Amino acid sequence: MSKNEVNIGLIGFGTIGAGVVEIFNKNQEILSKKCGKPVNLKKVADLDIESDRGVKIDQSILTTDVNDVLENDDIDIVIELVGGYEPAKTFVLKAMENGKHVVSANKALIAKHWKELIDVADKNNVRFSFEASVGGGIPVLQPLNECLSANRFEGIYGIMNGTANYILTKMSEEGSKFEDVLKEAQKMGYAEADPTFDIEGHDTAQKLIVLTKLGFGEYVPQEKFHVEGITKITPEDIEFAKNELKYSAKLLGIAKQTEEGLEIRVHPTFIPEDHLLASVNDVFNAIYLIGDFVGPVMLYGQGAGRMATASAVVGDCLDIVFNENKRISYGPVDSQVKSIKRMGDVVSKYYLSINTLDEPGVLETITGILNKNEISVESINQKTSESNEVKIIIVTHEANEENIQKAIEKIDELQEVKEKSNLIRILE
Ligand code: HSE
Repeated sequence: MSKNEVNIGLIGFGTIGAGVVEIFNKNQEILSKKCGKPVNLKKVADLDIESDRGVKIDQSILTTDVNDVLENDDIDIVIELVGGYEPAKTFVLKAMENGKHVVSANKALIAKHWKELIDVADKNNVRFSFEASVGGGIPVLQPLNECLSANRFEGIYGIMNGTANYILTKMSEEGSKFEDVLKEAQKMGYAEADPTFDIEGHDTAQKLIVLTKLGFGEYVPQEKFHVEGITKITPEDIEFAKNELKYSAKLLGIAKQTEEGLEIRVHPTFIPEDHLLASVNDVFNAIYLIGDFVGPVMLYGQGAGRMATASAVVGDCLDIVFNENKRISYGPVDSQVKSIKRMGDVVSKYYLSINTLDEPGVLETITGILNKNEISVESINQKTSESNEVKIIIVTHEANEENIQKAIEKIDELQEVKEKSNLIRILE
């Protein structure tokens, strides 16, 4: 890095890219003061340099040729905000091979190509920083990897998708329809280009992969764990859980150490309303960690959106300037997944919502099936409607996932049960 100034090249002038430009517009003087030398946004590359992004930008720094950044000897740090796998990966690798430090918010890329990216950064002796990839504006990766590194982690629990949390919050507070809130989240720039990544849990899974590597030293690819989104959860489930059971619905990423190996999973979860995580609403995210020495720590803030995420991106750039030669260790890059607990062996409490015909004996049949599968019932509620249908809501004591899945399959085969039952895991 030049002794007299720091030059940054940005690839990807989308939502977050425009946020980075805005930070430079407003705070360049402060950034330069902190670094003790001018910090410049030297080039911004994107295929579209015509559309208005709602930020002022010096037209002369805009380019449609990515090599104006990658091959530019003046540029010290490359920010990759293209997203997705290709051409983002090619750009990141080329920047590193050209001796440039790289900052990225691309969780999909990092979660999938962890080993290669870290290897190439190490080989080229450059920094690769990606704080913005998990939890948007929340500082979580550096605290986890450095400040808390004295600990062995018992568990990491994260609400890590702003879009999903926004949807669940609005459904709970305003009884809004899933589709309407999703549209709002897209308008606000929270959602991924393909919002199924948000609502089907993939975005949370990618972030959990990064946290799991840093917290437990294990790289677990997404196909090795259970990932379930929020599309099946109904407004009735949310309302009932809130009013009658005092639970809050969250899309949770969970990684915890157990005797049977590392447990890792993503799914909608009911959380008791007095748990800290239950108070994390709207686009906010939180990562709740339990370390053996530090105890519980919760990191909380805006997990999505232009400015919060851009804040983490620019923070990474400054960290590189402050500590250019700092050696960051993410632990051994091990491609062998060690002992991952089977989803069927996970133990949890469950919420079951079953729509059935209101006929004599059906409740007894259902509890009989649960009993046969060693599932003990904590509470049963029944809501009759005007038609001949009834919604039965059962909360179980802790049970084994394989057993509950077997039971649900049998329940759904009953001729009185007309639609697929809904199962939501409960965090105690
Ligand atoms: N789509 C993501 C979210 C953005 O909603 O949280 C941050 O990764």
